[in-house]
Formats: sequence, C-alpha cells, structure tokens
Amino acid sequence: MIWASFNGTAVLKPLNPEDEERALLFAAEILKKGGLVAFPTETVYGLAADALNPAAVENIYKVKRRPPDNPLIIHVAGVEQAVGLVKDIPPEAFLLAENFWPGPLTIVLPKKKLVPDITTAGLSSAAIRVPKHPLAIKLIRTADVPLAAPSANLSGRPSPTTAEHVLEDLAGQIGAVLDGGRCSVGVESTVISFLSSPPALLRPGGVTLEMLESVLKLKVLDLTVEGGGKTYKRIPPPAPGMKYRHYAPRAPLYLVVGDYPLLKKQLVALAEGFLMQGRKVALLLSRESEGICQAPVLRVLGSRKKPRQVAERLFSVLREMDLLEVDVIVAEGFDEKGMGKAVMNRLRKAAAAIIKTEK
Ligand code: TXA
Ligand code: MG
Repeated sequence: MIWASFNGTAVLKPLNPEDEERALLFAAEILKKGGLVAFPTETVYGLAADALNPAAVENIYKVKRRPPDNPLIIHVAGVEQAVGLVKDIPPEAFLLAENFWPGPLTIVLPKKKLVPDITTAGLSSAAIRVPKHPLAIKLIRTADVPLAAPSANLSGRPSPTTAEHVLEDLAGQIGAVLDGGRCSVGVESTVISFLSSPPALLRPGGVTLEMLESVLKLKVLDLTVEGGGKTYKRIPPPAPGMKYRHYAPRAPLYLVVGDYPLLKKQLVALAEGFLMQGRKVALLLSRESEGICQAPVLRVLGSRKKPRQVAERLFSVLREMDLLEVDVIVAEGFDEKGMGKAVMNRLRKAAAAIIKTEK
C-alpha cells in the first residue's frame, strides 16, 4: 500500500487485497470515532461521516463550508439497509432500485426518525443511494453504518474525480482519503424524488431521464428545466443544493449554446475577441470542433456523439483551468439528450454567462 500523509490526512492507496483490508479497517475506525473519510464512488469522490452521528455530520458541513440548508446523500450497501432509513416506499422506487442500484441514482423518500435532522438539513425526507465502486461498498460494510456523503470538494468548487482533487481542497482537514483511482462516470448521481406523484427529477446525472422513464413507463416530472413542473399539482421541493452556483473555476466561463454546427461561429468570434484583448484564453471543445481556432489552452472534452466521455472529463478539466491560471474560458455547449443533460446542467452552473447562438 502507498501510505502517505498530507498535513495529517492519511492517503490510502491499496495495491493488493491485504492492503485493501488494512486501509478499510483504518478508514472505518476513523468513521466510527466520528471522523471524516473521503472515498471513491463511480460518480465522484464523497466525503463520508457516520450518517447517524449528528456531531460527525456537522463536521462535514464545517469542513466543506457547506450551507446548512443543503442536505446530504446517505450511502448504503443495499436495499435492505435503505429500508431501515426511509418509509412509504412506493413500488416504483423499488423498481428503480432493482434496475439502477448499485449505481448513480439517488432516491428521495420520507425519512424515518432515526435519521438525524442535521443529515437531511431539517427536511423530513432523506436522499439514499447505493454506490457502485467496490471500495465504497466495502467501506460502508466495514464501518457498518450508513455513510452521509456529499461530494468531497469545498462548496462551490468542481466535484473531485481523483484523490488528488480531494487533497487540493481538503488536505489537513479530514482523517483520510481512500484512493481508488479515477471515477468512471465523472458527474454526480441523478436525484429523483418520490415525494410527488409522478416522481420528480431534481438533478440530472449518471442515470439519464430517458433510462428512468423507460423503466417506470411514465413521464417523470422534470424540475431541472424552467417551467418543468407547471402542469402538475403536487410538486416536491427542489433539491436545495441546486440553487447554489457550483463547479465554477476561478476564471469566468462563457458557455456557447445553440444548434451545431452553427454555434462554432459564435465560439470563434468570442474566443478571437478575448485573444485580441491579450487574454490567456482556454477553449473547451468537442472532438468535432477541435480545429476551429488557436488558443493558449485547448482541451477536447470528448465527442458530441459520446456525452458520457464529456461527463467523465468535465470536472477534471474545470479544475485544471485553475492550475493553469487562465484568464477566461470559452466552452462549447452540447446537446441536452441522454447524458448531455447532466453535462449541460453542470456547465450552466459553472458559467458566468451563457451565450445563445441565433440563427
Ligand atoms: O454522485 C453523487 O451523488 C455524489 C457521490 C459522493 O455520491 N454525492 C453528491 O452529493 O453529489 P452532494 O451533496 O454534492 O449533492 C447532493 C444533492 C444536493 O443537490 C442536495 O440538495 C440533494 O442532493 N439532496 C439531498 N437530500 C435531499 C432531500 N432530502 N431532498 C431533496 N434533495 C436532496
Ligand atoms: Mg456537491
């Protein structure tokens, strides 16, 4: 195992099964004592505390500088453990769990009393998910408690997809980080709420709206777009976290949206304008647009036809912008279908301005 310490935060990178067991026992011990451990999931790294220990959960809010009204997702090892935490579970929620757990889907349901108020920021509902990364499941099992875990970044920063990203934000402030390599999905889980009927999409993520609707065989109420709820009567509260600006690199990000290939012209005009002002411009483009313009920094996010590729790279590229100290970022918008919906949701939140390409 690679054991290292960054300002007192243990970095645990297990290289074989014995190592892994030692790392898990070490991390679980920290959690049982009310400490914090960052761990890999298939979406992004999470910052875990024992979900049933209010003092431990309070530490998450402190260390992340998270607004106190933004509830946490509770990570469990399987449906049986979820059932201990929430009530009034409709058959549709079980159907989703069966189809998408373990995986990037978070389900909001009325909470049982044993879940402390601080974990759900005072809400009477709790958000639950079973992550897919083997280290995540093993950590929950070894600690033998449900784990409250937001993304392991400082509030407002892009979510971490490597252990190094976690250390950039939190070294010295948490007990340990379990290093399980790069996260495969790259954006956070989809959040669906069963406080309404039909259920409502609160955050687009690793499981697409299309996937949810095809399993449920009904239209999900989409609260992630403006006016999404207007034809329905009983609308659940939106995910409190979605109202905050998020994921923003230090340099302003200009997001160009509109039809492709028309938006290429707008991208070039904008980039050239900034370049003429002598600014250090970063271009974030699709593979298809790669050659349209020269710039001091150019990053290809992935093919327009493969939004999952774009999702996987997005947060690490946004973090890289800070390390490169660029002055301004010009980013290409993607189609909001499938995984493109989650990609565009994150890009919109990261953007200082959104420029629409007119026909
Ligand atoms: O993929 C993920 O979901 C990652 C990994 C670590 O599992 N976690 C994550 O957590 O993204 P966080 O805290 O960054 O985002 C949680 C989102 C927030 O938008 C929050 O408002 C919402 O879930 N949420 C949590 N509990 C809720 C509840 N009871 N009702 C509505 N929204 C809730
Ligand atoms: Mg987050």
